[in-house]
Amino acid sequence: MKQSIFTIVSNEALTRDVFKMVLSGDTSHVTNCGQFVNIQLDGLFLRRPISVCDYDDKTLTIIYKVVGKGTEAMSAMAPGKELDILTGLGNGYDLSYAGENPVLLGGGVGVPPMYNLAKKLVAAGKKVSVILGFNTQSEIFYENEFKALGCDVTVTTVDGSYGVKGFVTDALPANYTYFYTCGPEPMLKAVYKATTTSGQMSFEERMGCGFGACMGCSCKTLICKEGPVMMKEEILW
Ligand SMILES: Cc1cc2nc3c(=O)[nH]c(=O)nc-3n(C[C@H](O)[C@H](O)[C@H](O)COP(=O)(O)OP(=O)(O)OC[C@H]3O[C@@H](n4cnc5c(N)ncnc54)[C@H](O)[C@@H]3O)c2cc1C
Ligand code: FES
Repeated sequence: MKQSIFTIVSNEALTRDVFKMVLSGDTSHVTNCGQFVNIQLDGLFLRRPISVCDYDDKTLTIIYKVVGKGTEAMSAMAPGKELDILTGLGNGYDLSYAGENPVLLGGGVGVPPMYNLAKKLVAAGKKVSVILGFNTQSEIFYENEFKALGCDVTVTTVDGSYGVKGFVTDALPANYTYFYTCGPEPMLKAVYKATTTSGQMSFEERMGCGFGACMGCSCKTLICKEGPVMMKEEILW
């Protein structure tokens, strides 16, 4: 884990309430897709955890939905502003289990951590299927970005306004070797039931410190430290 100062390079709206922020700084502790960062915001005691969407040796990309005080403040930040960020948190996804044609299922703000994972799996020569789930057409983001990576992309919407009507589980391909998923807990439970292979699931529970010190994330396990990614077989609902 490393605490350092990042500078906002860009901060743009992808939909009405979902924003993409690119930051420059020391990314040396971001070592895997599926990890998260914890952001200090003025006037808020607890840092706010956000998944790593993408990273390289100089920049970090995050995608966040405005749901309260912290994310509201982030949405108004201009390029040039500096943020105090903890990086290198969480375990991330283990790519070694993927097999030849893994499926990635992301729901809402569970979509961002799938992006760098998809990039790495494609680079490793895998045939990657991606299912992106949203409530309605106006909430969709990153469909084209996943297509540009060369993934086979299906979008589902609950109201049927775009793509396949229903949930991500309604678009599971007939054949896949493994699954990776991130999204709200009801979606993770549905994916757990619907999938026929092993896989990995990322939990975005409420958190405090982000590194195992406060017990703030404790369910049956310390999600911040031992997760947020868990093997399907490890999960006790
Ligand atoms: C490991 C991890 C990764 C995450 N990755 C992302 C991400 O990539 N993009 C993203 O948009 N969000 C992500 N989240 C959720 C994000 O941390 C919260 O939405 C954020 O902290 C809310 O801060 P706030 O000050 O805006 O809202 P607050 O004022 O703190 O809360 C506003 C409302 O949001 C609810 N809320 C707060 N935190 C969560 C949460 N973790 N899950 C569900 N509801 C919550 C509260 O119950 C409340 O109703 C992640 C959370 C974790 C733990
Ligand atoms: S968030 Fe503090 S122990 Fe997990």
